[in-house]
Amino acid sequence: MSRKTVLVSGGAGFIGSHVTVELSNAGYDVVIADNFSNCDETNYKGVCQILGKELPLIKMDFCDAKAVNELFDAHQIDAVIHFAAYKAVGESVAEPLMYYNNNLVSFINIIDAARTHGGCNVLFSSSATVYGETDVLPVTEVSPRQPATSPYGNTKQICEDILRDSVAAYDGVKGIALRYFNPIGAHPSALIGELPRGVPNNLVPFITQTAVGKRECLSVFGNDYPTEDGTCLRDYIDIVDLAKAHVCAVSRMVDGKMKEEYEIFNVGTGRPVSVLELINAFEKVNDLKLNWKFAPRRAGDVVAIWADPQRANEELGWTAERSVEDTLAAAWAWEKRLAGKE
Ligand code: UFG
Repeated sequence: MSRKTVLVSGGAGFIGSHVTVELSNAGYDVVIADNFSNCDETNYKGVCQILGKELPLIKMDFCDAKAVNELFDAHQIDAVIHFAAYKAVGESVAEPLMYYNNNLVSFINIIDAARTHGGCNVLFSSSATVYGETDVLPVTEVSPRQPATSPYGNTKQICEDILRDSVAAYDGVKGIALRYFNPIGAHPSALIGELPRGVPNNLVPFITQTAVGKRECLSVFGNDYPTEDGTCLRDYIDIVDLAKAHVCAVSRMVDGKMKEEYEIFNVGTGRPVSVLELINAFEKVNDLKLNWKFAPRRAGDVVAIWADPQRANEELGWTAERSVEDTLAAAWAWEKRLAGKE
């Protein structure tokens, strides 16, 4: 069987770099394309070190339609995974046009190039944010989407729709949307991981930066939610497990195993974990004490969301394997390596 080529837009970022490693390990040729607007070359270099070889790296902006077409001219691309997007909820509220422009135009350019190059398998990185606030938990892929509460969340919904409608209209274009829950952790080698610019918005990078001394104190947003310990519940998914779900999805597409031409899968563990439980697990597995305090609720947070991952388990043959403890140990090893402490 000839080797297949996967284009990974945003391949130098947190999720893209881990997916690149798993795709390469599974025997795919990977072309990484990134404009480095939200990352440096640390993860790209880490990927090459883990794999023991240089991977093709193209510095480009997916909003540039000509450049995207040239990329498809130059490579026989069997599947494309689209990560290259902005992802900060608060920033999207302040700068909606920046988000709609970058996140939608880049995806439109990719699908347009795919359809004019004889079709392609397109994997879109979507988010559990499309489910919004719901009382019916866990959520399945047929749970209704709620109106988005931020332009960022809206771009995820619109891109899902763009993919669904394009698959219906254009011969040879097939698509999978993976709805991620809360990706956390780092590669066990500690050579690649999350590199947030500035003050982290997400919980785990804030925890590790506090533990390493870069931040003074973690604020736990809200202690009066209607949950057992009063803090929000999320489905934290290990980044390597998440990356492996992409390999399963790509194989399903390129090996012609899809049941529908457009499919959606939840990528989560099915296990709700509260903010306090996560902090306790971090302290226990890494044998340290974290400086944290309660703070008011953060606007826009849903009380609880976790996945029913049954469809991914059965159809993709994928199951999350790593424990929260292993994942938090990996996140801490990565943070210490960044700080030069290990
Ligand atoms: N949290 C804190 N303190 C922090 C950061 C987060 O207590 O410093 C809490 C949040 O209130 C929430 C939980 O930790 O209860 C998880 O927060 P994250 O920011 O890590 O993750 P979210 O669930 O808010 O984010 C997810 C996805 C985003 C998506 C967002 C949409 O990771 O990509 O949902 O709401 F944009």
